[in-house]
Amino acid sequence: MLSTSMVDAAARIKNAGRLVVLTGAGASKESGIPTFRDALTGLWANYNPEELATPEGFLRNPPLVWQWYDWRRQQLQEVQPNKGHYAIVELEGLIDHVAVITQNVDGLHQRAGSKDVVELHGSIERFSCFDHRHLKDPMQKIEFGLTEPPLCSYDNCRSKMRPDVIWFGEALPEEALSRGFVECEKADVILVVGTSGIVQPAASLPFAGKRRGAFLIEVNPEETALTDGCDLFLKGPGGEVLPALIEAVKNLEP
Ligand code: APR
Repeated sequence: MLSTSMVDAAARIKNAGRLVVLTGAGASKESGIPTFRDALTGLWANYNPEELATPEGFLRNPPLVWQWYDWRRQQLQEVQPNKGHYAIVELEGLIDHVAVITQNVDGLHQRAGSKDVVELHGSIERFSCFDHRHLKDPMQKIEFGLTEPPLCSYDNCRSKMRPDVIWFGEALPEEALSRGFVECEKADVILVVGTSGIVQPAASLPFAGKRRGAFLIEVNPEETALTDGCDLFLKGPGGEVLPALIEAVKNLEP
């Protein structure tokens, strides 16, 4: 027996012309990806985010930061998208316009098959140079296991390469952020999955949408900073709630 919130959410989604799915670390949890802080274990337990994920940390110790991201990139080789990612892909078959806006840097939405993914915090699988952000051609892979960052091969640049992610204290990529706002402002429904809603500016996106009339549905095992402002809260892990929601959409009368 489906809960009334689930039926309500399904009806809203079915009638939506434009849908945004905003995701955070929780959306990758069932793939076995540790959150940034959870990953600070074992060899990395003595480090903190300021050392590993800030421009100042990189300048202080480029090999350390390189090796940390190298390790996290290797972990990604061993994981797969989960049922929640695939349910989000299925939405594309049910609704005219679906945009996925993610704070995750793991590329799992794309690997699952989502076509339109806006990466607010960059990607751990892309690289750019520290000084000029010259982007490394994605077809030219950087091998695992380097102990220090390779140098930029663009012209005579030779600046150190870094992961093309947004570190603490850095601005979000303007294009991704403005795309995020435009999508949310035009959306009929925004599905917020697996984010604690405390990191700005991503946390303000759903409410920018709501001010323009979007209906907000949150999926999370725990209440968050966003829950009170959402129209519906579907409690539970994304890998269970999202497939059930898709089924409910499909089973609604035309
Ligand atoms: N399904 C859905 N949500 C889940 C699941 C799950 N299986 N498991 C946990 N969650 C929820 C948690 O309850 C929490 O609300 O996912 C959320 C994860 O919160 P954060 O770790 O704060 O992740 P996020 O909101 O993405 O953080 C934003 O902060 O660490 C930086 O740059 C990093 O992009 C990240 C940003």
